[in-house]
Amino acid sequence: MKATAQAPSNIAFIKYWGRKDNELRLPANHSLSVNLEGLSTVTTVEFSGDLAEDGVEINSQVATGKQQSRVVKLIDRVRQMAGVQTKAKVTSYNTFPKGAGLASSASGFAALALASTAALELDLSEKELSQLARLGSGSACRSIPDGFVEWQTAETHEDSFAHSLHPANHWKIVDVIALVDQTEKTISSSEGHEAALKSPFYQTRIQHYLPNQYTRIKDALANRDFTTFGLAMEEEAINFHAIIMTSDPSILYWNAATMTVLHAVRQLRTQGLEAYFTIDAGPNVHIFVEEHNVEALVATLGQIPGIQEILVAPPAQGARLITEQAA
Ligand code: DP6
Repeated sequence: MKATAQAPSNIAFIKYWGRKDNELRLPANHSLSVNLEGLSTVTTVEFSGDLAEDGVEINSQVATGKQQSRVVKLIDRVRQMAGVQTKAKVTSYNTFPKGAGLASSASGFAALALASTAALELDLSEKELSQLARLGSGSACRSIPDGFVEWQTAETHEDSFAHSLHPANHWKIVDVIALVDQTEKTISSSEGHEAALKSPFYQTRIQHYLPNQYTRIKDALANRDFTTFGLAMEEEAINFHAIIMTSDPSILYWNAATMTVLHAVRQLRTQGLEAYFTIDAGPNVHIFVEEHNVEALVATLGQIPGIQEILVAPPAQGARLITEQAA
């Protein structure tokens, strides 16, 4: 009645922003991402008749409030699937550097979905696991399959899941992450998804901008065309943040150092170092380069004031069961 799973975080090239259904977390648009090596969550779930209530511990701290109820809600669903009422103890930790400001619900809910279903011997398919993880956090469904991943929007729970487009070793591109702010963001993604619908540019993004951009990035990934991939990914990041800034309420995730890094990346390109950025719902900058350029990029970023830490994350495989137990 106990299992441990490890799941990677992921960064999207086409972001999921805005939903068709909040409860089921059905996204308004298809998204594309890659799993990130070294940034993962390890979760142990143990169901036991000895427990009087569910317990959730994350990074050695007892989870309370919304954080706890979101975990219990997913466990409730798993219990329902297995036809049991046994209480569970959930222990989880992130392998991210402490306070990296990257702690992601994606790796957390992917690891939780896999560990909890394995603990009750449900033996779900990858598709079913992805659907389940999605209910905890939308982007978590993309942390179940390996490597480069696509998540299609759909009208029903059964039809909205992620699958692998290419394994992690398909392409040696690397995400070099410039951390410029390591505090937890004050506006959650959930609030952002709702606020986005009120941006005057939102429908343009969904109906006119994303369909072409999606194909462009998907094809570039298949062909390992770094220039097309990078330019399209960077363009999408700007479009995404334009929605964020013009949503209601307006959200500004960037800080001054974010802007400095964006300029530095474009400057590097003029000097012959091919690097492209994307930015999640936060101030930290994800910079993609081909593997042979990682060292040069890290050395350059090291000179930029305002960067607190630099992480290097190659593509990773998806969620898997492991023997080690989350401490
Ligand atoms: C900006 O998956 O965190 O990272 O479903 O409310 O948990 P919830 O949202 P979440 O949204 C993440 C959005 C994003 C872009 C992306 O990963 O696609």
